[in-house]
Amino acid sequence: MAAGLWVPLLVLRLLLLLLCVEPWAEGGKVLVVPLDGSHWLSMRKAVQELHARGHQVVVLAPEINMHITGDDFFTLKTYAIPYTQEEFEDLFVHQSHLIFKTEHFLKTIFKKMTIFANIAAFYQRSCANLLHNKDLIKYLNDSSFDVVLTNAINPCGTVLAKYLSVAAVYFVRFIPCGLDFEGTQCPNPSSYIPRLLTRNSDHMTFLQRVKNMLYPLALQYFCRVFFAPFASLASELLQREVSVVDIFSYGSVWLFRGDFVMDYPRPIMPNMVFIGGINCANRKPLSEVCIDALTQSMFQGEHFF
Ligand SMILES: *[C@@H]1O[C@H](CO)[C@@H](O)[C@H](O)[C@H]1NC(C)=O
Repeated sequence: MAAGLWVPLLVLRLLLLLLCVEPWAEGGKVLVVPLDGSHWLSMRKAVQELHARGHQVVVLAPEINMHITGDDFFTLKTYAIPYTQEEFEDLFVHQSHLIFKTEHFLKTIFKKMTIFANIAAFYQRSCANLLHNKDLIKYLNDSSFDVVLTNAINPCGTVLAKYLSVAAVYFVRFIPCGLDFEGTQCPNPSSYIPRLLTRNSDHMTFLQRVKNMLYPLALQYFCRVFFAPFASLASELLQREVSVVDIFSYGSVWLFRGDFVMDYPRPIMPNMVFIGGINCANRKPLSEVCIDALTQSMFQGEHFF
């Protein structure tokens, strides 16, 4: 009696299966606006995967850069920037490492601030060049991309996405000054979310909480110097007032290259996805030296337990 029912059910299942598989699932067109340097190395892996899943990817990069070279799994589109190769190298090879030097803070602060301002100017001027490049903007607009995948810390990709009216997906480790929280309206209680550079954990004493409140104030200056010009650029292009928070809140999905194995817990919003594992895509075995040092410190150092 039941056998009569089984046949139509089986047909129905097969039909559903057929509807779900490939020929009907079309690949999308993705515009990738990466940040140069090590950021690109993990983004490249994501681009490779997008290509493998049948999407068409165009990667947009300045014609002078460190790591972004063409490959067979994406189309590389470059744009001119108002810098020469020598100026670029001077800034990113010779000067930028000074920012990470741990000499006495006050001794180097002014030098570091100048270098930081130069780097900020580099990104801002390059972005203005890109957005005022009529031919390139026309090509990008005519290409009708489905989505822009961009490293949000350089807001140029987002401003471009907004200008082209294409949804943006962010690929990001973190954004300073809590702009990721503000841009997503995510709760951000300073009583247990350790702020950048404070070395606090999620359990703080009263004084650590005070420190947690004060550090962000100092960082505000850097965030204003770096991000505000992008808001002006966006306001000029879109002919309406655009704030820095408006720019960040444009992202539809935030792909965070983090993981709660490494980071302290924090509130998240439904459009945040944690993809920290992508940093292990290019893993290599630990060298003998590393393993020896690790085991020795485990057996000798009491502090380890
Ligand atoms: C993109 O093309 C549409 C349709 O032609 C046009 O209305 C729009 O202004 C263009 N956008 C930009 C940024 O050029």
